[in-house]
Amino acid sequence: MLKVLVVGGGGREHALVWKLAQSHQVSRLYAAPGNAGISRHAECLPLAATDIDGLLAFAVENAVDLTVVGPETPLIAGIVDAFEQKGLRIFGPAREPALLEGSKGYAKGLMLRSGIPTAAYAVFSSYEAARYYARNQFAAAPGQPLVVKADGEAAGKGVIICRTEAEAEAALSLMMRDRAFGESGARVVIEEFLEGQEASLMAFTDGTTLVPMIPVQDHKRVGDDDTGPNTGGMGCYAPVPLVTPELYARAVDEILRPAVEAVRETGIPYKGVLYAGIMITPDGSLKTLEFNCRFGDPETQAILPLLETDLVDILLGVTDAHLDEVAVKWRPQSAVCVVLASGGYPGPYPQGVPIDGLEQVAHLSDVGVFHAGTALNDAGQTITAGGRVLGVTGLGDDFAQARARAYAAVKNIHFDGMHYRTDIGAKNVRL
Ligand code: AMP
Ligand code: GLY
Repeated sequence: MLKVLVVGGGGREHALVWKLAQSHQVSRLYAAPGNAGISRHAECLPLAATDIDGLLAFAVENAVDLTVVGPETPLIAGIVDAFEQKGLRIFGPAREPALLEGSKGYAKGLMLRSGIPTAAYAVFSSYEAARYYARNQFAAAPGQPLVVKADGEAAGKGVIICRTEAEAEAALSLMMRDRAFGESGARVVIEEFLEGQEASLMAFTDGTTLVPMIPVQDHKRVGDDDTGPNTGGMGCYAPVPLVTPELYARAVDEILRPAVEAVRETGIPYKGVLYAGIMITPDGSLKTLEFNCRFGDPETQAILPLLETDLVDILLGVTDAHLDEVAVKWRPQSAVCVVLASGGYPGPYPQGVPIDGLEQVAHLSDVGVFHAGTALNDAGQTITAGGRVLGVTGLGDDFAQARARAYAAVKNIHFDGMHYRTDIGAKNVRL
């Protein structure tokens, strides 16, 4: 029996805790810091996900057998190296392989060297040089947008699509001169704009064996029909019909497998979840938009309800490098996850708003309600504590059923200012 610690406190971590709580191999579950929903399955610790020293001390003192890291920040900061140095088992890539997410320049270089398809690009540490390059690009191909990306972590906000030279200049100035994303903007990647449809493909890997998950499509814009500003993700669905079996095999063979092999050749194998953001261009080619070094959020809230296998078997297969011995099985169903957000999100939003209706949806079958930004107030009532508040996942034999179940559950939940997209998974339903 294992004592397991989940690092993080969002919807992704609630889905992880929810799945781990179903395992007969888990005797004790902790989460740091967790949230109101997570506290029903796990003991929540007053430790931030970035408090590596505090987490390490807790894991040592309490003889934690397995730590699972949700967010990228502690991974990029080296939490895995710190735990492994103390002989503790931890799920996630070490600091150097986590650079696949931690530095876009590093990721692009690795893709270029390994022949992994991605947008053409250039990397700059000088604002003047970057501006000169952007100006030349617009002169050579007027009307063709450019994408400006901060090299380092920018909480999902470091990518700006620029349609004019003036926009590119403003983006470069924001990142490189104003340091709007701190040191993350000291270097930038400028790349070719790609058209097409996006999908996310995550895989478990122990550095040698690769077990791809079901493809997912995230919805980043706040409004229906992909309108309004970008968010951390307003919902998702899985599988993705657009990713045909042929495209899926190509994404594994052309993107995920070569990336894991290229990292292994650098000396430290990639262990954990490798997430590839993929663009399927209108001519049917695949391009890698980004790598993430962790489970996606909200993607994980749609994927884990489809996973039949005990998650502990998979996590141990990765940490103990015997993933080839684990048979990973998925339910042949569809999942639709709808994110309920605070009024104003992705701009400023209030917190501490009481949430009603959670009891009514708690016992629904084929629906999972995952807490993202929630907390308990002194009276024990669940209140909002973030921009993305809840993720409601419906499962079904097809998208129509999964969608109907998710949105029926959503109708029971209310908090002041609550908003959500009404079109998650809609394009897969024949009318
Ligand atoms: P990234 O963090 O690099 O995945 O970028 C975030 C989002 O920006 C992606 O999910 C895409 O929607 C968009 N994006 C990034 N790179 C490109 C590109 N080269 N062309 C078009 N859109 C892009
Ligand atoms: N949903 C996008 C991400 O997890 O990065």
